[in-house]
Formats: sequence, structure tokens, C-alpha cells
Amino acid sequence: MMDITAIKLLVEVIFLACCYVFAINNITGVEALHNVYPEFQSLAAVKVKQVHRTAFHFQPPRNWINDPNGPMYFGGLYHLFYQYNPEGAVWGNIVWAHSVSKDLINWEALEPAIYPSKPFDVNGCWSGSATVLPGNKPIILYTGIDSQNRQVQNYAIPENASDPYLRKWIKPDNNPLVIPDAGINATAFRDPTTAWWGNGHWKMLVGGKRKHRGMAYLYRSKDFVHWVKAHHPLHSAPQTGMWECPDFYPVPLVGKLGLDTSKVGRDVKHVLKVSLDETRYEYYTVGTYFPEKDRYVPDKELVDGWSGLRYDYGNFYASKTFFDPAKKRRILWAWANESDTASNDAAKGWAGIQTIPRDVWLSPDGKQLLQWPVVELETLRGKKVGINKQILKQGDHVEVEGITAAQADVEVIFSLPSLAKAEEFNPSWSNLDAQTLCGKKGSKIQGGIGPFGLLTLASKNLEEFTPVFFRVFKAKGRHVVLMCSDATSSSLQDNLYRPSFAGFVDVDLSHSKKLSLRSLIDHSVVESYGAGGKTCITSRVYPTLAVNNGAHLYVFNNGTQPVTAESLNAWSMNAPTMNKRI
Ligand code: FRU
Repeated sequence: MMDITAIKLLVEVIFLACCYVFAINNITGVEALHNVYPEFQSLAAVKVKQVHRTAFHFQPPRNWINDPNGPMYFGGLYHLFYQYNPEGAVWGNIVWAHSVSKDLINWEALEPAIYPSKPFDVNGCWSGSATVLPGNKPIILYTGIDSQNRQVQNYAIPENASDPYLRKWIKPDNNPLVIPDAGINATAFRDPTTAWWGNGHWKMLVGGKRKHRGMAYLYRSKDFVHWVKAHHPLHSAPQTGMWECPDFYPVPLVGKLGLDTSKVGRDVKHVLKVSLDETRYEYYTVGTYFPEKDRYVPDKELVDGWSGLRYDYGNFYASKTFFDPAKKRRILWAWANESDTASNDAAKGWAGIQTIPRDVWLSPDGKQLLQWPVVELETLRGKKVGINKQILKQGDHVEVEGITAAQADVEVIFSLPSLAKAEEFNPSWSNLDAQTLCGKKGSKIQGGIGPFGLLTLASKNLEEFTPVFFRVFKAKGRHVVLMCSDATSSSLQDNLYRPSFAGFVDVDLSHSKKLSLRSLIDHSVVESYGAGGKTCITSRVYPTLAVNNGAHLYVFNNGTQPVTAESLNAWSMNAPTMNKRI
């Protein structure tokens, strides 16, 4: 006789199998706003499939996650909250899960900090941010979906601020702090930022839209409780749709240090980042903030819209930074969603990871931000192999042997002996975005200089591989460098979103003729940093052969001009303690 648990399990397994086969999948990769899959939403993750689970990226043991929320440093610990479905592996039943870490790498899961329980958040506890008030008092601002299904802004405070773990959070009865007024679309009004102090007020932004204009609504408060909407938003841009998860912070003009969010002055620029709900990617501008007028003006040369600068040209969304006072740096987190289907996720029992936390700072020329994985990641580096001065002729692919290629950190510097053979950059391509160009000019399409780079998560006979590579073009008076992370051949499995993610790299090759690339490879994610963090791309991929020991790593060149891998260092990565229980 089967006992009741075994029967339940069997029923669930059969249901899962049916969903897997019959679900009609959205595989465009652009997930519509808060897709709801009632059939999967509370389907408990009975068994978690390990095969594509990441080892050193942040994730809970099971279930769905999305945005990073309220990152902060408090009581000697890094706190990360995140949108979490405790009941299933698709979006739904969202709470603020909570983890803490001493080093941003090893994580301990605590009980969820904020969950629906009051009229002002009974239908959802959505994204938000933390601010540490004077006197070392943390406070969280988050969006609640209230009993009328309006998006309202609430606050939560620790029950006991002398507990460094901040285990329990209280949602005082004077919530909500901010409700959408008559001029605001109540279903497009969310994701409050970390607040900053200036001119006798706390200030914070809430994302929204007016018709199709993206808005960063500005609110001011003297006491953090009574908030008044400013007459004008801090910033807005036409034709960009809903602005989710705005982030606004200062960066110094010179150097890599981070700054407290309230810092203003001549020696800083400001960054405004927004996440575009309609395309599910983000853009940022660097600009000037005028604190007396509370205006933000992006620098002239920068695009303030769909085709603006991005932290990452891949699967990277709802990002948020925080200032780490312990190491004086600004750290960036983002959600890397799955590129498989909701039925795949329900079957594997988990979905979503956070990207590796990155330092973020202004490039010396002030034109863009630079990013690099936090130094603590290097504590996970295990066995190391290296290749020096490897000349790569057209068609070469040289294996990097001796490390766990499915779980690795690899850094390579390429040198280009000459730029003479660079292909012409066809002027008609300037209307194409980098991703479309990469779709045309894949890793196997011979060029002059490049494609060259890494073949990550490759099966032995290259039935599967995710190439991360550069291609250099000659345009009028300059060279154009394209960087791609191409999922087209990443898996033999059907029904996956396999974009040829790409970005241009703003480097002057006439100087040094060198290009560097670092890739963090972690089973189903390849997170890459081109030219010292000028262009970053994250791809989610699901190989069938290139898994665990079946995964290989190669360095390759398919351009007619030989290039040299001057130095390549690759490490097997150890797994940290990752949220063992929740
Ligand atoms: C971004 C987002 C936020 C919202 C949250 C809900 O991914 O849509 O705007 O607060 O997710 O989970």
C-alpha cells in the first residue's frame, strides 16, 4: 500500500509531467509584466533538479526568485532581501526573503522579513530599498499591493535594531506612507529607492509612467513618515513606458570608491538607472544632479531611452546598488531570470538567481560606468591553470584543460598584432543594435579580426557551446568593437530563449591593441566582463551534454588575422555556503 505522501508525490509528478508537455510556452524571453501561472504558482517544489543549478551565484534552495531588494550593510553583515515565492517556482505569493553574509559570497537564509498581512500589503509585498538613518537605524521602503489593488509605498522597521541579523520586521500602523494621488496610475507606481538627505529633507523616488512616459516620481519628507510629492518628477523620458526599480546615486569623478547615497558636490556625478518593463532590460545615464531644484540632467552625449547604456547587455534586470561603508564601495546586484519556460521551471523546482555582486564606478573618461565582480569572489578560486602566449590562427580552438569547466572563473588578455585586417563596418549597420549585428555575425562567421574569445559550456564535439567573443570592425576614423555572448548553440534542448546578446565596447585599440575578457561560468549562467568591465553580458543557458564533467572550455579564433592569448588564467570555483535552508 502506498502511503498518502507517496500518492501526493505521484500525483504531483504526473501533473508536472503533463504541464511540461502541454504548457504553451512564452519563449520570446520578454516576460510580460508579472505573468501569472496559476497552475504552477503554488506547486510545491517536491524535488529540486540539480543539473543546471548554479554553485556560486546567489539563490535559495528552491522556488522562484526575482528582484534583489533592500541590500545594505548593517551590524557587520551584508543583508540581501529578494522577491521570493515560498510556494512554487513561478512568480506569485511574493514575500521579501532575507539572507545575510559576512563576505557577500557565503549566505545564510533567515525567515522571510516582510510578507502580506495588512490591508496596505495584503495583495503583495513588492520591491523596495533600505536606508540606514542617522543613529544606525535601518528602515525599509517597499511597495504594497493594498486591498484595492493599488500600489502604495510602505515602510518596515526592525523589531530589535540591536540584533545584527535584523530577523524580525514590523510594519507600523501608520502605513501606507504614500498612496497614488489622482494624477498617478495606481497600477504603475512602485519600487521606492534608497532615500538620500539634502536641503533639510529626505528624498526618494518611485517608478511609474504617465501614458507612455517613464517617470521617476520624487517625494520629500522631513521625518521619513510624512512624504509630499514634488511638483515635478526628478526625471522622466518619453516613449520608455513603465520605469520599474529606479536607482539613483552619486559616483566620484575620480577613482573607484563608492559614496554614500546623500553625497553631492562638484566632485561627483550622478547615475539614474531604470528598468524598462516593456522590454525587460534596463538603461542608465550619467549626469548632473542639482539638489536645490531636485533636477537631474543626463549628460548630453548619452542616450536617455531604449538604446541607452546598459550595465549588462544580457539577462540582467531589476538591479539595485547600495553603498558598502565597510569597504567604501558601491555594489550592484541584479536578477538573472531563467531563459527556459515556466513549465521547465515548475519541473526543475527553482527559477532565478542573483548575479555576482559587482563593484561599480565611473570610468576615467566619465562616459560610462565600469563594473567588476567583488574581490571576495576570488576566495572561491580553487585549482588554477594557465596558458601563455598562445597564438590562435584562423580556425583554432585550444582547450583549457584541468579545471571544472562548468564551474569556473576565467580571465584572458588577447593581443592583436595588427588592426589592418579589420572588416569594414557597413554604415547601414549603425541602425542595427549590437544584438542584431551579433545575430548576423556569429562566432563561426569568419571575419578579419575575430570572432575570437572563449567557447564556454562546450561539449567535447561542440554540439553545444556558448561563445563569448569579440569582433573588430573598421569604421570611419575609428575601430568598432563588438562583444557577443551567444546562446544560439548553447543547448540541444528545444523551447529555450537563445538570444545573441551583444554590446559595443568603447575602447581605443590604436593604443594598446589588447582586449581582456573575464567569464564566470556557473552551470547555467555565463557572466562576462569585456575590457575590464566596460561591457558586461550575462547569458542563461541549459546544455544537455556540456554539464558537469561533460563541459569543456576553449579559447578560439575564427578570424583570418591570428590573435594571441597573451595570458589566460582559469580557476575551478568552489561552492560557498548558499542559503542551506529556508
Ligand atoms: C520588477 C518587478 C517590480 C515589482 C516586482 C514584483 O521585476 O516587476 O517592479 O516591484 O518585480 O515582484
